[in-house]
Amino acid sequence: MKLEVDRGLLSKEIDELASISDAEGPAVTRIVFTPTDLRARSWLVARCEEAGLAVRQDPIGNIFARWTGSEPSAPAVGTGSHIDAIPNAGKYDGVVGVLGGLEAIRALRRSGFEPKHSIELLVFTSEEPTRFGIGCLGSRLLSGVMSAEAARGLKDKEGVSLEEARQTAGMKGPLEEVKLKNGYYKAFVELHIEQGPLLEQQRISLGIVTQIAAPATLRITVEGAGGHAGGVLMPDRKDALCAAAELILAIESLAKTSGAKDTVATVGICEVFPGAVNSIPSRVGFSVDLRDTSLERRDGVLRKIRDTLQSVSTKRQVSVETEQLNADAPAECDRAIVEALSQSCKNYHQTSIPMVSRAYHDSLFMSRIVPVAMLFIPCRNGYSHRPDEYAAPTDIETGVSVLADALATLAS
Ligand code: GLV
Ligand code: MN
Ligand code: MN
Repeated sequence: MKLEVDRGLLSKEIDELASISDAEGPAVTRIVFTPTDLRARSWLVARCEEAGLAVRQDPIGNIFARWTGSEPSAPAVGTGSHIDAIPNAGKYDGVVGVLGGLEAIRALRRSGFEPKHSIELLVFTSEEPTRFGIGCLGSRLLSGVMSAEAARGLKDKEGVSLEEARQTAGMKGPLEEVKLKNGYYKAFVELHIEQGPLLEQQRISLGIVTQIAAPATLRITVEGAGGHAGGVLMPDRKDALCAAAELILAIESLAKTSGAKDTVATVGICEVFPGAVNSIPSRVGFSVDLRDTSLERRDGVLRKIRDTLQSVSTKRQVSVETEQLNADAPAECDRAIVEALSQSCKNYHQTSIPMVSRAYHDSLFMSRIVPVAMLFIPCRNGYSHRPDEYAAPTDIETGVSVLADALATLAS
């Protein structure tokens, strides 16, 4: 099949979307259901409608843009990703899978291809955990991994509930309606930047994801005793930050000694109260993001973290409270889709390797209800979640061509 990907248009659209941001360029910040997120969504819906797709939105704000096939009632072939961006992010994470997915569909339409199965672009709500503390809200609800009731219980830092935020943003209907019907999709393929350095280092065009690592997220609060930085002598202190520091280093060490390089742990948030130079910290809240490709090993480290919380609490006479926000299972990609992607790489004379996705993606949750696979393109130095994240237009074009070819195979 002769496919012409419009690389210039795609680059222009990526830049245009990046300009809808709450951070000054090149940084991008787009948090779910903020006015900026809503502007980005309207802009995107307009691009999908321009392409002749039928657009609908579900009650959590997942956007579906469909090219109806010759057998409209047959399960659809899905592709897509997310457009929300963490604070101070780059412009490619998620966006390459959304605008690249759209361009794959446009290229297929231009080529004269006629799908039997409908091909649908799916844009997931809040893949990033920034606002409600837990990522992949759209796909968790679509797959039924998270119940509508649990979603309604989520609140942001200001105490605004997800329910309130989505309704204010204009998303109507009960969250119960989000879960997809059995057999809605036949297959789902997500195009994404690698967010790691391997493709670039090995000079390989594309990664075909066979496994997606999964996160567990904890929110930990340490309560000690505050006081005057001059007046309270060292033996009398219950410094919450010193306890938290000991815990954070122990968490790092537990991840490093799990026996596999696949175990990674990050403390990315640490809030100190009252936060004054001359006041002993009385309370510290911090997050733990722990991931692995093996559920057993990940949960083993999680148990050791809990034991350490207990022992440091006793030793330092501080209280430690733990809230587990999520503990997801890793996913295996579907062999037939992996094979289709591998064949499409060959059709386009592109090198590819099987890869583990160490970042999580909406595909992790989609895999619970539909066969999935992912296609990775290189990104410079493996940088992601930072403003200098970069993917070359030619690499994006290659990814989109291979994606389109695979979508055509799956939709025939
Ligand atoms: C997704 O953004 C992740 O944190 O893996
Ligand atoms: Mn991300
Ligand atoms: Mn992403």
